Amino acid sequence: MAVPFRRSLLLASGALLAVAAVAVPVVVGTASADPAAAGQPRIVGGDKASLADHPYAVYLTDSGGNQFCGAVIVSSTAVATAAHCAKAVAKEEIRVVAGREDKRTDEGDVLTVSKVWVSKGYSDPTKGDDIAVLTVRGQLGYRPAQLPDSGDAAAYREGTKATVLGWGRIADGGDRSDYLRSAVVPVVSDSACRSDYNVYDAKTMVCAGYAEGGADACQGDSGGPLVVGDTLIGIVSFGDGCGKAGKPGVYTRVSTYADDIKAQAKPRLLG
Ligand code: ARG
Repeated sequence: MAVPFRRSLLLASGALLAVAAVAVPVVVGTASADPAAAGQPRIVGGDKASLADHPYAVYLTDSGGNQFCGAVIVSSTAVATAAHCAKAVAKEEIRVVAGREDKRTDEGDVLTVSKVWVSKGYSDPTKGDDIAVLTVRGQLGYRPAQLPDSGDAAAYREGTKATVLGWGRIADGGDRSDYLRSAVVPVVSDSACRSDYNVYDAKTMVCAGYAEGGADACQGDSGGPLVVGDTLIGIVSFGDGCGKAGKPGVYTRVSTYADDIKAQAKPRLLG
């Protein structure tokens, strides 16, 4: 069936837009209007979020300053992001922007990347393993997110209210948000997500969103954090449209990669 193919087209066009400086920004919505009505990507609502509450939320730009993905601080020297983000731009061109809530300011720090680790097995977001860790040059002076324990299932209980953060697309037609935004989305059961997406893999992915849609991540949010409290349970990976009924956001299941992330996050003497 054609659905996975269509999804990768969406993914690819999102990445191209981002890299081309043309577009992209933000993300997220809250439930209110009828997202299914138009039958196309649509992000409704969402709230401005604060880095004081989520200091580990960062974004990635190319060397021209164009934001193309989100990421999340996991140690003083490393950020986690999506593998498809890490591969969208050459290592030398990636910049990690930390401590900047509003893209139009020059607050915070812009760091270059010395090392890119991509999960083994990664080929395409719809096949799982969509996670990478970037080691930065210098120090990230902001509080990291907590990691779940390896294989922790409790963090993924159905209905748990999680928060997704990002600077990606905020509205149908591509209005940009200059600000960090967030939306609350409940964790979806494996069985429900499997019926929403035939490519769903419970070992490497987790879904979050309301059955009726409305609140979701969107293009440009990839790589950003899905947290419960300050614990990172997911990384924005893919979705069919944005905020559509019956199409929750799909996230990389962080607990599966906790040991890998910890190993990569360890500050190195040389780097
Ligand atoms: N792949 C998109 C990106 O690269 C993220 C899509 C997330 N979509 C969703 N409906 N949750 O930014």
